[in-house]
Amino acid sequence: MKINNSEIIPASEITPYETYMGRRDFIKAASAALMTAPFLSFNSEVSAATSASLFGYTKSSYGADEKLTSYNEVTNYNNYYEFGTSKSDPALESKELETHPWTVSIEGAVKKNKQINLDDLLKLAPLEERIYRMRCVEGWSMVIPWIGIPMSKLIQWAEPTSNAKFIEFVSLADQSQMPGVRTNILDWPYTEGLRMDEAMHPLTILAVGLYGKLLPNQNGAPLRLVVPWKYGFKNAKSIVKIRFVESMPKTSWVKAGPKEYGFYANVNPMVDHPRWTQSTERRIGGGLFTPRIKTKLFNGYAEQVAHMYTGMDLVKNF
Ligand code: MTE
Repeated sequence: MKINNSEIIPASEITPYETYMGRRDFIKAASAALMTAPFLSFNSEVSAATSASLFGYTKSSYGADEKLTSYNEVTNYNNYYEFGTSKSDPALESKELETHPWTVSIEGAVKKNKQINLDDLLKLAPLEERIYRMRCVEGWSMVIPWIGIPMSKLIQWAEPTSNAKFIEFVSLADQSQMPGVRTNILDWPYTEGLRMDEAMHPLTILAVGLYGKLLPNQNGAPLRLVVPWKYGFKNAKSIVKIRFVESMPKTSWVKAGPKEYGFYANVNPMVDHPRWTQSTERRIGGGLFTPRIKTKLFNGYAEQVAHMYTGMDLVKNF
């Protein structure tokens, strides 16, 4: 996704997945040690209420027939520019991120601005596991068993007014903990947005875990958005602010490359990105010779979400 001062960089500068996986062999030993350690320390820091409720989640039937991407791949092949631009940076650089206590500010077109801490947020609804296909605009995809609560539950709690037409999600941008924020690779803080109906859609969740564990920092701990019919960049990580607004928010990637990244960012095999085809994808973890698979409109969730875009030109509103 690399963009420098709004310049499109050549595709040759993007590390292909194969090269990345080759390079990863060198760091395998190191990351094996890191894989388990952060979890233990993280778990011991969170309140009993948080970790207990995480293990009390219900299973859902979403996408259960899909082969899951391994935990190792899901947590070591990441985009999280606050910790660097390579896929291995987030796992290596985010270990010290302080994620507890955590408070989310609710602002804008709501009855009253307010704050909610993570423990209270987790009381808004029972935790559910959702197995979702995730499709990155760069052409790779994964199947991830997320754990979270429906976004709609937080919206109801927030009591938006009739002026709330969109929601802006703002990620943490802390220079002292996040080396990437000391660079100008993106206009920090990372912000994303959804239209109200998209945010209220039952498929949209706020995730706090994956694979039955708390979210690792590199995946957006302690709280991140998951919207499975949109490209991965919509899923803001480590959210600290949720703002209800009247007009369409200017998101980080739209600011960085308006010709490359749109607000809607619905997965659409018919609308290519200037640098990457969107008609096929590579499922991460399938091995080097696994053929690419065909990308589906709305990432295969058309039946559930297409009605929200009836009459809209999906080429213009990419
Ligand atoms: N959120 C923040 N704050 N910063 C980021 O750089 N990257 C996005 C999205 N959310 C990003 C972010 C992109 S491009 C993708 S593909 C997904 O996170 C990756 O999520 P994952 O690493 O959990 O698979």
